[in-house]
Amino acid sequence: MPISTAPVDNVVDRIENAGPLDPVVKAVKSVVTALLKPQAVRDALHGVWLGHPLHPVLTDVPIGTWSAAAILDAVPGTGPAASTLIAIGCASAVPTAVSGWADWSQLHPPQQRVGLVHAAANVTGLGLYTASLLARAKGHTLRGKALAYAGFGAVMAGGYLGGHLVFRQAAGTNHVADTLDLFPSGWQEIGRFDDLPDGAPTKRTVEGVDLLVVRRGQHVDVLTNRCSHLSGPLSDGSFTVEGGQGCIVCPWHGSTFRLADGAVVHGPTTSPQLRFETRVVNGALEVRLPA
Ligand code: FES
Repeated sequence: MPISTAPVDNVVDRIENAGPLDPVVKAVKSVVTALLKPQAVRDALHGVWLGHPLHPVLTDVPIGTWSAAAILDAVPGTGPAASTLIAIGCASAVPTAVSGWADWSQLHPPQQRVGLVHAAANVTGLGLYTASLLARAKGHTLRGKALAYAGFGAVMAGGYLGGHLVFRQAAGTNHVADTLDLFPSGWQEIGRFDDLPDGAPTKRTVEGVDLLVVRRGQHVDVLTNRCSHLSGPLSDGSFTVEGGQGCIVCPWHGSTFRLADGAVVHGPTTSPQLRFETRVVNGALEVRLPA
């Protein structure tokens, strides 16, 4: 990771490389993994059903309500409305956090270190907002506002780290979105059909773009080889059957893609793999981008 000259980025770079956080990461990960064991629960929390990561969608509610409360707290006579918004934010923070932990448990160590501090900032914010609500309920309005503004600061710091995770460390992004731009146009020969192993995933490369090739008898499926989750090599993965359909399982975090169309069957990814068109010409297998 290149070292930025911005002071705040230098702080985040240090968090990325903070090895002393690793025992905490390991302990938290084991708890999260144990609690979120069922595949269906994990898929739901990742957002497989939505076709989009669920966590960033859910974050809109607590951030939106707490931001609105911060504005109302500066306006006289809006105490009950601000309290209502803060309470909604606190309630919505719980499912938001759970979906975030699910995603976090399937990241690389530098991402998990940043994610851990991101979560700590948000938990601090949630605690301060809860204390704010209690103070307001007892009639300590000024104290309640001070606690809420402190919570807002903590949540903004957490939000900054969440942005860093996505935009700098590429957690939650589609890692194969550039295939359409990189792959040459037209049919491309990738070898003799008969030379392909039958029933075993293998890799072919066209102008730097790796392809996953799975031949089963006279049928062949070709997908982008780099996993959309975090670029794991699908050709090192395993073939499986889900719902009567052939699928490939990523060797890194278990994302599962249907070979017939590249669709996501199981997360953590929510982005499908690109599936190439194929044809056999004089015994040679050719592929091209889908129309
Ligand atoms: S790289 Fe994470 S599931 Fe493939």
